[in-house]
Amino acid sequence: MSTDLSNYRKSYEKHELLLKDAPANPLELFKRWFHEIDTSFPDIEANAMTLSTISLDGFPKSRIVLLKEFNTDGFVFYSNYNSDKGQAIIANPNVCLSFFWHSAERQVIIKGIAEKVDAATSDDYFLTRPRGSQLGAWASNQSEIIADRDVLNNKLKELELQYKDKDIPRPNHWGGFLIKPTEIEFWQGRPNRLHDRIEYKLNSDSSWTINRLAP
Ligand SMILES: Cc1cc2nc3c(=O)[nH]c(=O)nc-3n(C[C@H](O)[C@H](O)[C@H](O)COP(=O)(O)O)c2cc1C
Repeated sequence: MSTDLSNYRKSYEKHELLLKDAPANPLELFKRWFHEIDTSFPDIEANAMTLSTISLDGFPKSRIVLLKEFNTDGFVFYSNYNSDKGQAIIANPNVCLSFFWHSAERQVIIKGIAEKVDAATSDDYFLTRPRGSQLGAWASNQSEIIADRDVLNNKLKELELQYKDKDIPRPNHWGGFLIKPTEIEFWQGRPNRLHDRIEYKLNSDSSWTINRLAP
């Protein structure tokens, strides 16, 4: 069986990214792009990003997670520390994040080093989650094999009783990771496959070297 996709072709023509418009700090450009996407395309989850890690078996693995904060230190998402990704990051904190904002024909690729955020930050974020999501963090041993859906439903029922009329504490195995960027590439689709690629590389004095890359 074969599916021919050779006619899938789209010309990218909406925007450009020139070196003269690239600020000294890539977080500024990220903020500008993120807000443009977020405000122009409210229906898409602009904060959905692909997280790639090196698994314990040596293979890379990618999955979507949600960006919950970004600031001058980096990019924060929340997860289960015992999950596949959690174990992978603890063994090898070198990770890659990427965003594909197709509505604006843009891609951002971030290489960086992951570390756990402090417990108080994870507590604060956990408190903002709906109760159902808080219980879900307790109910699911993320990435483990389970027999069927009843395992989750039964666990959730148990937890609902256990925490009836009570605050739900954050599980120790659940919290944030901060990705401190070392390289960020901004990719803007252009006609004739001659896309704009502006790459930032972090220097030891915390400044960034900026280069244009061939598409
Ligand atoms: C739109 C979307 C958002 C997601 N957000 C998160 C998230 O913020 N944190 C998380 O742990 N998993 C999130 N997931 C689920 C992950 O993609 C993944 O299935 C899960 O984290 C288990 O991955 P692992 O077994 O590689 O650790 C999201 C999935 C989708 C499709």
